Amino acid sequence: SSSPRALWGSRIGFILAAAGSAVGLGNIWKFPYITGNNGGGAFVLVYLICIALVGLPIMMAELMIGRYTRRDAVGAFRTLARPGSPWRLAGWISILAAFVILSYYSVVAGWTLEYILRAVQGAFRTPATTGTVETAEQVRALFDGLIESGPRQLLWHFLFIGVCLGIVIGGVQKGIERWSKILMPLLLGLLALLFVNGMLSDGARQAWVFMFRPDFSKLTSGAVLEALGHAFFTLSLGMAAMITYGSYLSRAENLFASGLRIALLDTVIALIAGLAIFPIVFSAGMQPGAGPGLVFQTIPVVFSNLPGGNILALLFFLLLAFAALTSAISLLESQVAYLIDERDWGRKRATAFLAGLAFLVGIPSALSSNLLQHITPIANLGVFDSIDLIASNYLLPISGLLTALYVGWFWSDQEEKQELMADGSVWIYPLWHFLIRFVAPIAVGIILYYKIEETGLFAFFAGLF
Ligand code: PHE
Ligand code: NA
Repeated sequence: SSSPRALWGSRIGFILAAAGSAVGLGNIWKFPYITGNNGGGAFVLVYLICIALVGLPIMMAELMIGRYTRRDAVGAFRTLARPGSPWRLAGWISILAAFVILSYYSVVAGWTLEYILRAVQGAFRTPATTGTVETAEQVRALFDGLIESGPRQLLWHFLFIGVCLGIVIGGVQKGIERWSKILMPLLLGLLALLFVNGMLSDGARQAWVFMFRPDFSKLTSGAVLEALGHAFFTLSLGMAAMITYGSYLSRAENLFASGLRIALLDTVIALIAGLAIFPIVFSAGMQPGAGPGLVFQTIPVVFSNLPGGNILALLFFLLLAFAALTSAISLLESQVAYLIDERDWGRKRATAFLAGLAFLVGIPSALSSNLLQHITPIANLGVFDSIDLIASNYLLPISGLLTALYVGWFWSDQEEKQELMADGSVWIYPLWHFLIRFVAPIAVGIILYYKIEETGLFAFFAGLF
């Protein structure tokens, strides 16, 4: 189209929007419970290594693709590769992943709205009579009641998608950037309060030891794969988000420094979320390995037995809702950018259409009470759960692998890639290039291999011969 491309209004606006995409349910809901499930310190160490050696280089590659082509993910690969080349598939896969993930991300985000409402109603106040036992039952009843109630979940899902629509329709500067500049500081403030609260509680020491003293006897190969997969999810990689946000980035910005800041913020926030949550779990004598219910079932019980716990619960679920919102808008924007750039749609029409579609596609997910299965897949997956499993376990790593391979091996213009060296350092470019050519594709190739082997697909094909 003829109008000049929208750009971020300021460096801080871009950093907050991109960090807003990265910081989400992945940091505050998923990171603490997978750390708990995988025994703490050793898992955290592996996760940090995965972020540094695989996540960070791919993040820079995605920002680079976006800024260089100034297009949505499909258009970006089309512009880079020869017309008709199979590389545009990489763009399609990432937009498809964004589409599928938004539809259920919004359902889980909707749960946080229910908890906010309950906290406002005082549901997490300490019961005067029997304390923990009574609260544990109430919280379980609340959660079960929620996931079994189709209408409630649909209502929250509708509301959440509606808020995303309201923000994204405002555009890059007046919608996404403006709201990120409001929501991210609020999120950081809430997290700081909860962190201080954790540090002041009895379990603080135990939490530090649990998270930072590696016990390698607890490290399984499954945990290593999970750490690598989560590095993708948490940095918003493989879902077109960083390509799209990079496409609004001014040429004057240093990609290396930007990528580093975003990844650092995401990582620090995940660690601080752990340090806010584990101390209170330990002081209450509860287990860190409670699974996906840690945040929705365990934490509220712990809160309601603390003085001022209802307020803490309110702050916590507000934090979760803000984090989910800034992530969900990046998933929506990545798809909107496609319709605007490739199909010449107007922003309003594109946003309304895609938000409506995300709502519709999320309906089965809101109505299936066993959504959490996508975290711990078990034998009888429903249709929707299977689609979701395919999106997060296969589409993301595949599109990440394609990105690394393209940028590392097929993008031959070294000069363009040296944009990364805007800070004039002599070692950053070769180091990054080595990681993106060898380390990232090999590591991602290995997870994909094991994930596919797990499904028995290889054995199935081998059996055919
Ligand atoms: N990074 C987000 C999180 O940690 C999830 C997400 C992935 C958001 C991809 C946007 C795009 O929750
Ligand atoms: Na994240």
